[in-house]
Amino acid sequence: MKVTVVGAGAVGASCAEYIAIKNFASEVVVLDIKEGYAEGKAMDLMQTASLNGFDTKIVGSTNDYSKTANSNIAVITSGIPRKPGMTREELIGINAGIVKTVSENLIKHSPEVIIIVVSNPMDTMTYLVHKTTGLPRNRIIGMGGALDSARFKYRLAEALEAPISDVDGMVIGGHSDTGMVPLTAHATRNSVKVSEFLSEERLEQVAADTKVGGATLTKLLGTSAWYAPGAAVSGLVQAIACDQKKMFPCSTLLEGEYGLNDLCIGVPVILGKNGIEKIVEIKLSDAENAKMQESAAGVSKTNGLLEL
Ligand code: LAC
Repeated sequence: MKVTVVGAGAVGASCAEYIAIKNFASEVVVLDIKEGYAEGKAMDLMQTASLNGFDTKIVGSTNDYSKTANSNIAVITSGIPRKPGMTREELIGINAGIVKTVSENLIKHSPEVIIIVVSNPMDTMTYLVHKTTGLPRNRIIGMGGALDSARFKYRLAEALEAPISDVDGMVIGGHSDTGMVPLTAHATRNSVKVSEFLSEERLEQVAADTKVGGATLTKLLGTSAWYAPGAAVSGLVQAIACDQKKMFPCSTLLEGEYGLNDLCIGVPVILGKNGIEKIVEIKLSDAENAKMQESAAGVSKTNGLLEL
């Protein structure tokens, strides 16, 4: 199993590290345009192998896509991250050109690759990869929901004063401060609905804190977060590499599901060796569905800024 991570910045390096530590891939290629940078990150990470007990080989590449040849999975993290006060949508101009070039280069060397898009605005970048590559929809996956759901569980555990392993929950919709739809009514603590333990006001606060999860970190760090994004990516990569048939909310091209068409947005999917093996249509309440439709309108508006 060969995995390529494009972009050796904080998110890309974190993806490579978590993938390697989980020890299921034979090789991880990290590629960056900055001379020597990916090689440096790869060497530093390789020097953790004996300490952290993994056998995955990590290789760096300065923009040489021949090193990525025959990758099974590729993760696109390249582009600029947001700075404090910026929305993800403001990154579209620069990142669209980068993501287009990167995806074309990846496919040239790995025609069977499954692509995971992380670059922001993620739902629109995922849609762009569809439009520019024409790959079947099962092979293009946007990473956002897995991260947003992890942040939701963190906030739920905080409100419940419970360990995170007690908590389950999911965020669907667009990966943006206004577009996320945390499914609070479905969230549980050991199969008991969290609404049994938390007031409606507290749950609304949990949802609000979840939606600005990325922005909160950007303000604290001065740039976009990397540990949780890297861990979320590694979960998706492992589910595909190990054919786990695991369910995650991911951004995928919808063709009528949830009453939506011609956009990529976060919905629950089953991930296995073929990438997205199934889109799961869960029953939403009228209020949840209204939020989903509003979120989709926001994503479509951003998609409209693409020069396709
Ligand atoms: C975040 C970036 C990865 O939410 O979108 O941290």
